[in-house]
Amino acid sequence: MAKNVLETPSVGPEQIENLFEDAYLGLRKFYLLYFTLKYNMYEYLSKPKTFEEVAVWFEEQGFKPNNNLLESILDALVQLGLVNSYNRSYNDDKIYYETAEVANIYLNPKSEFSGIDTVSPYLLYKNRAKRWTKLDDALKEKKLEVKEKSFFTDLVKITVLDCRAGKLKYTLDYLSQFEEVKNAKSILDVAGGHGLYGIALSYLNENSKCKIYELPHVCEETKKYIEEYGSDRVSALPGDYFKNDFVETLDDSNPEGYDLIFTSNSPGCKTTEIIDKICEATALNGLIINKQIFTEGIGDKYNVKKSLENIDWNMFSFSGFEKSRINNTFKYDLTLDGYLSYMEEKGFEILDIYSLEERKSVKNQPSYICNPKIMTNKMGSYIVVAKKIKQ
Ligand SMILES: C[S@@+](CC[C@H](N)C(=O)[O-])C[C@H]1O[C@@H](n2cnc3c(N)ncnc32)[C@H](O)[C@@H]1O
Repeated sequence: MAKNVLETPSVGPEQIENLFEDAYLGLRKFYLLYFTLKYNMYEYLSKPKTFEEVAVWFEEQGFKPNNNLLESILDALVQLGLVNSYNRSYNDDKIYYETAEVANIYLNPKSEFSGIDTVSPYLLYKNRAKRWTKLDDALKEKKLEVKEKSFFTDLVKITVLDCRAGKLKYTLDYLSQFEEVKNAKSILDVAGGHGLYGIALSYLNENSKCKIYELPHVCEETKKYIEEYGSDRVSALPGDYFKNDFVETLDDSNPEGYDLIFTSNSPGCKTTEIIDKICEATALNGLIINKQIFTEGIGDKYNVKKSLENIDWNMFSFSGFEKSRINNTFKYDLTLDGYLSYMEEKGFEILDIYSLEERKSVKNQPSYICNPKIMTNKMGSYIVVAKKIKQ
């Protein structure tokens, strides 16, 4: 008997179609962005240009004249909100194209906030994307080694942009509600990188002194930012927290310990080994403020993103740290719950737990780890403020 043409599979193809549609959409967006940045379109369009002017520019770049294609590219940029298009008057059908404000700020290399000419999230993605386009090669190599030295210096430049675009300001707005922060005279910013957090904390009290603790080669970068944004109350302090103790950095002005030890996103500062050293160097009634990514706080709706990021994470390695399988975590890292109970054991009171993505305290949530209401963020960034109440 001939096969029945009306026989259909038990499940429709929509899930697969949507998956590919979604993937291809992302791919096109990515390469379009790549193209526009490569040819510096946002700077070129920072002054309005007519379509005819853009067409001349297009040819000058060595592309074959193709107005339909060019118009489609411009239209896609308009749809993505990166370029605006408009007519100047009602009786003129000439269309003008101009970089949208957001692209002018972040994607125009002339902007103070541009991250595209040095090392930017865009470049970070581009480098990651390279691994994905050669996934089989990456898998054959087992793990790609990342040279730790250049990795951390590059990271300083990436995190500066991230900080300056708002994170620093709202972190400081949040922290300045604590009297202990405003009154802190001796501050240590552990693994401060660019040092902007320490620098900004030093603004809160004109009698404060802040040391930015960093790996010696990264300190050279730190000094540039202190020069640009800091004062003579801020200094760079070279060291390696795996090899040295923070108590060695105390001096006559604070022999009993620091009033405030701040750390943000440094890999070692979720491990008991480094936490012990930080606690030891904190003065009684002093604060430890740990801004960290605890990935278990990421909501289920980000599970696909999370699993893909775990692949990214396992495609490179650090020479000094042993990673765990989960993105942004290392072998000996504490979980958020583990960190909180460990700090209490060390004689600290948890003053607050603040979710950076949701910009609210989650301390009084019945169970912040399993509460779907608060597990809605996509990075798992928290600030834990703890006060030393026992010596
Ligand atoms: C992700 S960056 C964070 C920079 C900055 N605190 C921020 O949040 O923007 C991590 C920093 O940890 C520093 N770091 C890594 N290992 C270190 C070590 N053993 N001793 C001191 N600093 C270290 C790196 O140099 C890097 O600047």
